Amino acid sequence: MSFLACRVFNENNEVKHRLCEMELDQLTAGEVVIKVDYSSVNYKDALAATGKGKILKQFPLNAGIDLAGTIVSSESDEFKPGQSVLVNGCGLGESYDGGLAQMARVSKDFVIPMPEGLDGRLAMALGTAGFTAALALHRMEENHQSPEKGPIVVTGASGGVGSVAVNILASQGYEVIAVSGRPEYHDFLKQLGASQICSVDDLALGTKPLEKGRFGGVIDNVGGNLLAQLLAHVDLWGNVASIGLASSHELSTTVFPYILRGVSVLGVSSTNCPMSLRKDIWKRLGADLKPNALSEIITDEIPLNEVSPVFDQILERKRYGRVVINCQ
Ligand SMILES: NC(=O)c1ccc[n+]([C@@H]2O[C@H](COP(=O)([O-])OP(=O)(O)OC[C@H]3O[C@@H](n4cnc5c(N)ncnc54)[C@H](OP(=O)(O)O)[C@@H]3O)[C@@H](O)[C@H]2O)c1
Repeated sequence: MSFLACRVFNENNEVKHRLCEMELDQLTAGEVVIKVDYSSVNYKDALAATGKGKILKQFPLNAGIDLAGTIVSSESDEFKPGQSVLVNGCGLGESYDGGLAQMARVSKDFVIPMPEGLDGRLAMALGTAGFTAALALHRMEENHQSPEKGPIVVTGASGGVGSVAVNILASQGYEVIAVSGRPEYHDFLKQLGASQICSVDDLALGTKPLEKGRFGGVIDNVGGNLLAQLLAHVDLWGNVASIGLASSHELSTTVFPYILRGVSVLGVSSTNCPMSLRKDIWKRLGADLKPNALSEIITDEIPLNEVSPVFDQILERKRYGRVVINCQ
């Protein structure tokens, strides 16, 4: 049985992607075969498919770091044909064939039964971006973050991780300062529950190693100078979840926020999140952390054969919210 996949190749040291017709036995090995109903486009997918980031560990591979679908066959007793499942991270679209395809074959160790409260479309509306936003908040709360500690700054707020983070934080009672470089999405961010929406300049951050404590914590998608400056403004025992590098992978800071204010920087890595924690986070995403404005966060749903332009659009900052891919 042949099917379509968005496949990434390295041809003469140039990374390219195109829609291909494939057979099941061409897919990387695994015990569970899944008919992919939905996938999504994340920043990392865009880096991988365009070659603008060195994401793939081998070529060729199907793109897509997440998927939701229905099991077709399973060599593991843990899973049954017809079961609704999802997979995110775990090397999908990096070391193994990914979710931007009509079929996938994955290790049984990667598969998560669809959590109560979600279906395939909603799971991919959240996708890796939503999972990562929830993982960030989970880690912050494990480290005693609470709304009383002050407002949480979300950078890159109109993007996938940012928009879900804004909505989840607001619904959990946090005051959210959404930082976005695009004024045209300020109303969108207000709808998601942000109490203040501003540009980086509006924040008027200082450049000293330690500045006035203004924020309870930060969820950062941007990295670089902005992250360094925000760190200096985080108040006593606040948490900074470091997620992304949309601006820069560099971070130049001092130890002062850590040793004088007890501020913590928490790493958030969705790819290799331990399975028990991954399952807990997905369970929460279908329950207490389910965004109440998910239909606003889904800003487009497009068929698999139209995914290609979305990669460049994401990297050129021409998209906002989440793009769901209908794979069937
Ligand atoms: N650690 C992990 O496991 C993990 C998981 C998922 C994503 N990520 C990373 O998190 C970041 C966000 O991912 P995403 O999927 O949400 O991407 P996205 O949807 O493209 O959102 C990124 C947002 O960052 C802002 N941005 C883009 N380019 C920028 C630049 N040059 N300077 C400053 N801000 C910029 C934009 O927000 P505004 O226009 O509103 O400012 C954009 O909407 C990416 O760096 C991604 O690689 C990491």
